[in-house]
Amino acid sequence: MSRIKDSSVEEIKAAANIVDVVGARTQLRKVGGRYTGRCPFHEERTPSFSLSPDKGLYYCFGCAAKGDLITFVRETEQLDFTGAIEWLADRFHVQVEYEESSGREDERRRRRERLVSLLEQATVFYERHLWESPGGGPAREYLVGRGLHEEVCREFRLGLAPGGSTLVTKALEQGFSREELASAGLAGRRGSDYFSGRLLFPLADARGRVLGFQARRLREDDPLRAKYVNSPESDLFRKGDLLYGLDRARGAIAKQERALVVEGNTDVLALRQAGVEPVVASMGTALTERQLKELARTTRRIFLCFDGDQAGEAATLRGMDLAAAQGLDVRIVPLPPGQDPADMAERFEDVLGGAVSYLVYRVRLELDRAADRQEGFVRVRELLGRFEESPERQDAARLAADRLDLPREMQAGLVPRGPGSVTGTVSAKALDAGLRRERDALAACMAYPELRPLLAELAPEHFDEESHRRLRAHLLDGEPAGDDLVGLRAELDARGASGALDVRTGRELLLRLRERWLLRELASADLGRMKELQTALGKIREAFLH
Ligand code: GTP
Ligand code: MN
Repeated sequence: MSRIKDSSVEEIKAAANIVDVVGARTQLRKVGGRYTGRCPFHEERTPSFSLSPDKGLYYCFGCAAKGDLITFVRETEQLDFTGAIEWLADRFHVQVEYEESSGREDERRRRRERLVSLLEQATVFYERHLWESPGGGPAREYLVGRGLHEEVCREFRLGLAPGGSTLVTKALEQGFSREELASAGLAGRRGSDYFSGRLLFPLADARGRVLGFQARRLREDDPLRAKYVNSPESDLFRKGDLLYGLDRARGAIAKQERALVVEGNTDVLALRQAGVEPVVASMGTALTERQLKELARTTRRIFLCFDGDQAGEAATLRGMDLAAAQGLDVRIVPLPPGQDPADMAERFEDVLGGAVSYLVYRVRLELDRAADRQEGFVRVRELLGRFEESPERQDAARLAADRLDLPREMQAGLVPRGPGSVTGTVSAKALDAGLRRERDALAACMAYPELRPLLAELAPEHFDEESHRRLRAHLLDGEPAGDDLVGLRAELDARGASGALDVRTGRELLLRLRERWLLRELASADLGRMKELQTALGKIREAFLH
């Protein structure tokens, strides 16, 4: 994919009107310099969505959706950055220019567009064959037999491959070449259709463009043994980059702040049909890093659903490890052996209620696999030592201590303290409160410029969170804020404008941050320095009174 020129991005940002774009999704009402309305990202009756047209930022007090125009388009239209820019360019009549917009790069893009268009036409062709041809009868009956209604099958654009050279002939008539058919994975080596007599599940990227297919066996006499045959891997189609159903599920994943990952494509359909929407399939292999990255763009909370027989397998564990290592909040939903999510679609929310945290799950597994208590102890300690302190780790340690029947004084030995880990000594709750204080202090400084001199008396170290430090620098020195601060600025801008913070509160919050820092320093100070710190602390406490 070639890059859109920065100048184009700027031009589009200048031409686009955020009030128009947001206003098309929800009714806005002007209140002072801002707009409010019902949030387009979650169901609500009273408006908690707030938009500042001057800053170009929005924030929802209900669901914490936040960002700028581009984030808004990305989320509501389910597009990536490039897609969002192209969408806006289209809407506001701006010509998009690409880097190296001549030569090879351009050639590649055109070719890719043609292949995508060929795949789109093939999808429509297969859909028609399934629903409209007499030859589609048995496949339609098969779907009925599995309890999958036409509506959901159509939503996921299921199709049927007639086979022979039906598709190839048709595409050649439309002006596509044999080479293009082969590159799109639609023609086999001999030049006839690649898929034959199989039920097709189109696999789309996050923008909903079909890039390939998974073809399920329908007939006993199918010459290919495998239950599923995939499009051949190519530059265009990499199965490991895609998750089945993500293009359909993304909206629900964002809204519900959770993604359910199941294994089978048919499980996705059955669950959606039963009203469970934020669901994707991993397509039978261990989750890849790229799949997880793609998911993490929308949510950090994922539920991995596994058949009880496979849940302990190496490949499955690797996927979980990878997800946990990326900092995702991973919960495991082991299903009764031999049962698919499709078998319990109607009561799936109950099934999800049985989810356990990744760490608890792993601890159980380590203990089940250990030959004796001693080995169990060692395995669990090794596992827990790899993770930061968290409520989940505490749960897991308690579970292990119970199962190993450890005496009290030995329980602590299960969770070695990492050297110098701040989170190891401060409880998660206290940490949250501290971060909230940092945010509110910054929000007040954004709303009331007269607090800036007080902010200038604070050093970066007074803030624990890296993004807060950068926002401080941005407010004080006008350092460029960077795209990654968009969400934070939107949130704090709205918080400042909400009236919850006045100047006095802002001043107090800033003092509290200085106090916190001094107290921490005191904890490790020698005698000489202690005096100095205590004097400073006294001054701050006095300042609270004024
Ligand atoms: P049903 O048997 O129709 O319920 O299929 P399913 O989609 O539920 O599949 P299953 O649970 O057996 O496997 C999970 C997923 O793994 C499937 O959806 C496919 O994506 C993938 N898969 C299963 N079997 C094969 C195979 O033989 N080859 C390939 N490439 N993928 C497979
Ligand atoms: Mn199945």
